[in-house]
Parts: sequence; C-alpha cells; structure tokens
Amino acid sequence: MNDAPIGIFDSGVGGLTVARAVSAQLPRESILYIGDTARSPYGPKPIADVRRYALEILDTLVEQGVKMLVIACNTASAAMLRDARERYDVPVVEVIGPAVRTAMSTTRNGRIGVIGTDGTIGSGAYQDMLEVNARLEVFARACPAFVDFVEAGETDTPRVLATAEEYLAPLRHAGVDTLVLGCTHYPFLEGAISYVMGEGVSLVSSDTETAKDVYRQLVSRDLLAGPDAVPRHVYEATGASADDFVRLAHRLMGREVRDVRLVQTGAIDLPAPRA
Ligand code: DGL
Repeated sequence: MNDAPIGIFDSGVGGLTVARAVSAQLPRESILYIGDTARSPYGPKPIADVRRYALEILDTLVEQGVKMLVIACNTASAAMLRDARERYDVPVVEVIGPAVRTAMSTTRNGRIGVIGTDGTIGSGAYQDMLEVNARLEVFARACPAFVDFVEAGETDTPRVLATAEEYLAPLRHAGVDTLVLGCTHYPFLEGAISYVMGEGVSLVSSDTETAKDVYRQLVSRDLLAGPDAVPRHVYEATGASADDFVRLAHRLMGREVRDVRLVQTGAIDLPAPRA
C-alpha cells in the first residue's frame, strides 16, 4: 500500500502545479495524475456538473489503486468538499482547507482577499470557511480571464497586467493584506498579481499549501513510500488528444511530462443536489 501512487486530479493541466509541489516535497512518492481535459474548463460550468465529473475521475483513480486522493482543482474542491471524504476509504486532500488555514494564520489586519474561477467564487466555499472566524472580513473576486491567459501561455504581457489591474482593484482598495490564489493556474501569474497588489500583501498559493497537507497526512497515517521505493510519475488525460496536454504541460512546467495516456472515466448517476 505505501508504495502505491498518490492520485492527483485536476480539470486539466493546471493541477500540475500541485503535482510539482508534491514531488518537490516528497520525491520518493509515485504520482498518478489525471487531467479531465475532455471536460475542462470547470470554472464556468454548473457546480452540480463539476461534482459529477470530479467523482467520476476520483472513482477512476481509486480503481487504479492509489493510496491517497488529491483534488488539485479549486473548482472541483468547492463542488464536493464533503462528498469525497464520505465516498472513499483512502484519505482525501483538497486545496481549499490548506489555503484557508494558511491565510488565517498569515493575515495581520483580518482582511483577506480570495480570487478564483466563477464556479469557485460563486460556490462561496472559501468565504464560508474563512468567515467561520467572525473577526475576518473576506473580499472575493472571480477572475475568469486568468485561466485563458495561462492556457494560451500568456503570463507576462501588458494585457495580463491590465486585466490584473482591473480584477484586483477592488481588493486593493479594500486593504486586504493577504490574497488567496484560489485556482490551479494563478501561480503562473504571481508576478503580475504581486506587482498589482504591492509587496505588503502576502500571496497564499494553494499548490504549496496542499503539498504540505499531503506530507502531513502521509506521515500521520504512516503511508509514506518505503525507503527503496522507485518513484513513477504517470500522466493521464480524458480528452481526444494527448498532444495538447503535453504541449501545454511543457510550456508551463518544462519537460517532466513526456507520455500521457488517454483514459475514459465510467459514468455515474448522482441524486440532485440538496437545495
Ligand atoms: N483547475 C481549475 C481551478 O483550479 C481552473 C481551470 C478550470 O476552470 O477548469 O479552479
């Protein structure tokens, strides 16, 4: 069991930021990564659809024998915070809790900004978790164009900066001192985001915070890979072509991703969500 891979899932390529952070902190661990490229992006889709897609992918990872599930996608995490832990026997790590805990311990003035996709911000998942602490004020903003920029390999152009200025102006004016980057793709835009927000604002990135949670869970459950484990990193995608996945992965992450297997998920039926 200990040498089984960690299953990491995202709507597409963006979750490789989480895979990269996990393998930097846990180099002996094997990783099985699935990007649901057939149905990405998740951000603009109804949350009930995202929940079903995400559970289909997680079922596929569990069938392949992973020892832990990591939901790298913020929109998917927002859509199924509770369901996944109830459905699977293996531990489930998602990206929202770890980023929220770090934001809470980072802020000094109690004013926290959160940015993410329409789905993530619309779900209120970050806001609900942060506002458990009544002393905190939360300012949330969807930044949908950021994902498009990153997918187009555009991270440092004047257009990116102008869009960041526009999206982030209300958060800057609100005086937040901590900003949660609540989307897999936003670490690639940290330069522009940090420039616009100013040096006094701490950026909390869900990729590194999630990797720390993966580490914590593996150690506390005695699930770390054994001393002789030979790590394997396997990448799968649900779309029609592996080439698009590999091309974008190379542009964003370098050469680590070489082969991508195409997989199909089983379909599941879920009861209508509770109102
Ligand atoms: N992975 C998504 C997230 O972190 C961003 C891309 C998408 O919309 O699918 O919210």
